[in-house]
Amino acid sequence: MPQEKKGARSLDDARGYLEEYFVPVMYSVPDEGPGSVKCADIFHDIFNSGEVKGKRLIDVGCGPVLSQLISASRFFSEIVCAEYSESGRAEIEKWVAEDPGAFDWSGYVQYFCDMEGTRDIWKERQKQLRQAIKAVIPCDIHKPNPIEPLQMEPFDVVITLYCLEAACSDRESYTKAVRNVSTLLKSGGTLILQTYIGTT
Ligand SMILES: C[S@@+](CC[C@H](N)C(=O)[O-])C[C@H]1O[C@@H](n2cnc3c(N)ncnc32)[C@H](O)[C@@H]1O
Repeated sequence: MPQEKKGARSLDDARGYLEEYFVPVMYSVPDEGPGSVKCADIFHDIFNSGEVKGKRLIDVGCGPVLSQLISASRFFSEIVCAEYSESGRAEIEKWVAEDPGAFDWSGYVQYFCDMEGTRDIWKERQKQLRQAIKAVIPCDIHKPNPIEPLQMEPFDVVITLYCLEAACSDRESYTKAVRNVSTLLKSGGTLILQTYIGTT
């Protein structure tokens, strides 16, 4: 788990968030990072276990972050990145468009490829992630349909990492947000919620 609460930073500064929490985790020393890679390792385990199946996945409150989607992109051909902040969405869009100013996720891609045994084709895996991201859209988990005004076909999998606790100030709004986010799931789908334990 991260050593401090990531939600403390406003994502008005998505690039600053990436530089603070994701640059220090170098591929060469994954065990010494502040936790971002270790938090994302679980997604390798989940998706490679074969227990979570489907084609369509949405990440709610993804911020400007992509590491949690690398493993999923091997199995899910339609990924939607939904994020409240414009600056977070802009970072994802830049990376998908191969903008030279985009954040460099290649170290993370290689890290996950090592776990998969696909290191020799890491560039293809990186391309696979780019191609799997079909849309980058606004969302607000406080709305009954968090992606309104859009209506999308329900998803096989909804993932959300460190978002609900950043957006909700009490138990009631958190409960409602879980319900709202769950409406994006198809019947029998899977909700994967990565969160902190023991926070207020
Ligand atoms: C701590 S960051 C987590 C970002 C990313 N999921 C990660 O794992 O690093 C919290 C995220 O929740 C988003 N957020 C804040 N309020 C939100 C809301 N009402 N609806 C959806 N997302 C929201 C923020 O913009 C930010 O991207």
